[in-house]
Amino acid sequence: MNYSRFINIVSAARQPSPIRVLTDLYQRSPPSMISLAGGVPNPSLFPYETTTISLKDGSKLDFGWNIMQQALQYSSSAGVPELLNWLKEFQIKIHNPPTARYSPEKGQMDICVTTGSQDGLAKKTVIEQLSTDVLAIFFHIAFMMHMIFQIAHDYDLLIIEDDPYYFLQFEKPWAPSFLSLDIDGRVIRADSFSKILSAGLRVGFLTGPKPLIERVILHIQSSCLHTSAFTQFMVLQLLQQWGQHGFLKHVECVIEFYKKQKDLMVTAANKWLKDVAEWHEPAAGMFLWLKVKGISDTYRLVMEKALEKEVLFVPGNAFSIDSSQPSPYLRASFSFASAEQMDLAFQRLAALIKEAVQTGRETR
Ligand SMILES: Cc1ncc(COP(=O)(O)O)c(C=O)c1O
Repeated sequence: MNYSRFINIVSAARQPSPIRVLTDLYQRSPPSMISLAGGVPNPSLFPYETTTISLKDGSKLDFGWNIMQQALQYSSSAGVPELLNWLKEFQIKIHNPPTARYSPEKGQMDICVTTGSQDGLAKKTVIEQLSTDVLAIFFHIAFMMHMIFQIAHDYDLLIIEDDPYYFLQFEKPWAPSFLSLDIDGRVIRADSFSKILSAGLRVGFLTGPKPLIERVILHIQSSCLHTSAFTQFMVLQLLQQWGQHGFLKHVECVIEFYKKQKDLMVTAANKWLKDVAEWHEPAAGMFLWLKVKGISDTYRLVMEKALEKEVLFVPGNAFSIDSSQPSPYLRASFSFASAEQMDLAFQRLAALIKEAVQTGRETR
């Protein structure tokens, strides 16, 4: 692929910062290396000494001074090298992208760590003509994936795969990712640890063709320098302790929880909303999408009426490219609520919808 046609002027003009290059070099050097480069603060002055993190399974992550020095120090813009290695092996195991075997110029699979997957998605600003040459894929539409990939291939488009709920798929086999189909090197995939390990850590990663990931890394160099090394080490230590098997075992526990929650919400929806809304039972994630019958826009219903009755949803227009457009949809999360709360919430929603349909006033 000709990647240069996707890269905007600002990104194309970026050169690696010599300071960042030296930081990378120093990080990979033997202890005998004497560095008089870089404005690296002396860690002996940092007030933090060691960290012990207790895990729910009873084990501990111990950050001795050696790890602490690295976790509290400037780090590589692409990500902590050991974490990158772990992630590369893992992506190959999970998605087996054809690009893993390509040469760098042909779009070899590469990875960089981002401050959550949202940050990775924001870094797509390195790409030129976003509205016309990039397909942003927000949800898995498994049966349409081969078709979409073919269209992207025929029209030479990039695909941005925004997939933080990949590990919350309730049934096996999991839907294939676009990354796994990427024979051309045209997919940039945004992954996240938010839904599986913790959202506050702000650790995600981008996987894509090397020529584009390199541009993203230059963007990181010129913006935040790197994702917090401390939180990267929190993830790394855990992943090293668990291994791939342990991580996937944890994923199964998370899936089990959300699947039960989904069942509870569907039960509550069946009880209260059958006459006033439509939905598909979710196959993944933490949300039930409702299409409200007889109402063209749910905004007032959600933001005023439901709020008054102390129940929160997200109106569908929040997910539209043009949020001024009316939307009959609303999103209900089954992540937090108990069965009783879901039941009460949908009972209230059903009453509000009926009232709104009767008065016929639900437009913005
Ligand atoms: C579809 C989608 N993409 C991206 C994100 C951002 O996730 P992260 O916490 O990894 O930045 C979210 C968060 O809820 C999301 O729902």
